[in-house]
Amino acid sequence: MTGTIINGKELAQELRQNMKGEVLQLKERGVTPHLSVILIGDNPASKSYVNGKKKASDEVGISSEVIELPAETTEEKLLHLIDDLNKNHAVHGILVQLPMPEHIREQQVIEAIDPSKDVDGFHPINIGRMMTGKDTLLPCTPFGIITMLKSKNIDIAGKHAVVIGRSNIVGKPVGQLLLNENATVTYCHSKTADLKEHTKKADILIVAVGKAHAVNEDFIKDGAVVIDVGINRVDGSLTGDVDFDSAKKKAAYITPVPRGVGPMTIAMLLKNTIKAAEGLSD
Ligand code: GUN
Repeated sequence: MTGTIINGKELAQELRQNMKGEVLQLKERGVTPHLSVILIGDNPASKSYVNGKKKASDEVGISSEVIELPAETTEEKLLHLIDDLNKNHAVHGILVQLPMPEHIREQQVIEAIDPSKDVDGFHPINIGRMMTGKDTLLPCTPFGIITMLKSKNIDIAGKHAVVIGRSNIVGKPVGQLLLNENATVTYCHSKTADLKEHTKKADILIVAVGKAHAVNEDFIKDGAVVIDVGINRVDGSLTGDVDFDSAKKKAAYITPVPRGVGPMTIAMLLKNTIKAAEGLSD
């Protein structure tokens, strides 16, 4: 078996094309979707992600601004800014790029964002709605992964999905979304005893461990779907958490890095911003 590549870059492009029409319709109703992105400090990776978000917004006609704050910004100042954006009717989406500086309490900040403008889908209200299977703003990377699976008509219901990683922004929510689609879900993490024993039973394997090439063909069942969420910089080039060339030999479908999950995350952010502007999320 040699895996079919799920090209996230192409799919994201297609979705952005469709979103242009949705944005035009909103504009005809007098609503210009607007996304405010807050970037604190000068982490180069965060800067690059934020630039990607702005560029993609511009392409589909979503108005956006990047509010850059110095690393020493106080939590109080940040909360005031979020309060102003919450009250501003011209702002539909608010995103604070993670990670934040250590002196700022991440959870306080996430909870300060109006849930109807929480285009990251990180607010406990949105997480709760997701857990109960309600329509809401979904976390972008997990939402992008489900969209990739559906784009290839991959059956999720009744399948055994194994998620490696339990972060709040990827691992936990992607497992929940797979469960919502009627998969049987196993979570693995750094304390899992005998990781391979679990991953080799996966029909759908989601790899979000944050370590280059942590997973190869030895972890994969023949015919599995392998989704690589990792973005690691090794010797100046980007690579995933999955050893692509090795895993491809066993997988039926596999996502590359780059051109895999990354562009889908941004596309889903745009989708959430449009949804927030449509006022469907509250
Ligand atoms: N940092 C890495 N991924 C994300 C994300 O999806 N949203 C935000 N706000 N920060 C991130």
